[in-house]
Amino acid sequence: EEAPPAGEGWDALPAIPLFSDLPREAFIQLFERCPLRRFGPGERILAQGSHGDAFYVICEGSVRVFREDDGHRQDLATLEGGAFFGEMALLSGAPRAASVESASDDTQVLEISASVLAMLSHGHPSVAQALKKFCRERLLTNVMN
Ligand code: CMP
Repeated sequence: EEAPPAGEGWDALPAIPLFSDLPREAFIQLFERCPLRRFGPGERILAQGSHGDAFYVICEGSVRVFREDDGHRQDLATLEGGAFFGEMALLSGAPRAASVESASDDTQVLEISASVLAMLSHGHPSVAQALKKFCRERLLTNVMN
């Protein structure tokens, strides 16, 4: 009945603070509804400047977030299992603020579309609140750097 992500199942998932308030049922439904995407080392996941209609939760591995302006690369962050990215374009409608690439051999991310997020936020407003909080913090970090 349950469809755990690839690998060793639910127990292998990192803690996901974003979903800490979700009942198990809602958590499992989310994994049933959303595709799990896999990336090899250095593989591009998001391109700065592109349109965004989903955000991503890291279920396995890690990613690097970086800006590329005039061919010049600036690393912004490394994100590990349980973290998320891609929320900024989704919440603001702006183009992707940075590029994201896989920083491990087997990176697995859950892709959560705008429509699934809308449904989720309806029943569980804490998810949208946490997304907005991170979005604000990251915006501020980028403006100040
Ligand atoms: P988005 O702009 O949709 O796509 C690129 C993502 O990189 C962005 O959403 C954030 O999730 C993430 N990001 C941008 N800046 C930072 C930062 N300073 N620290 C961590 N993550 C960031």
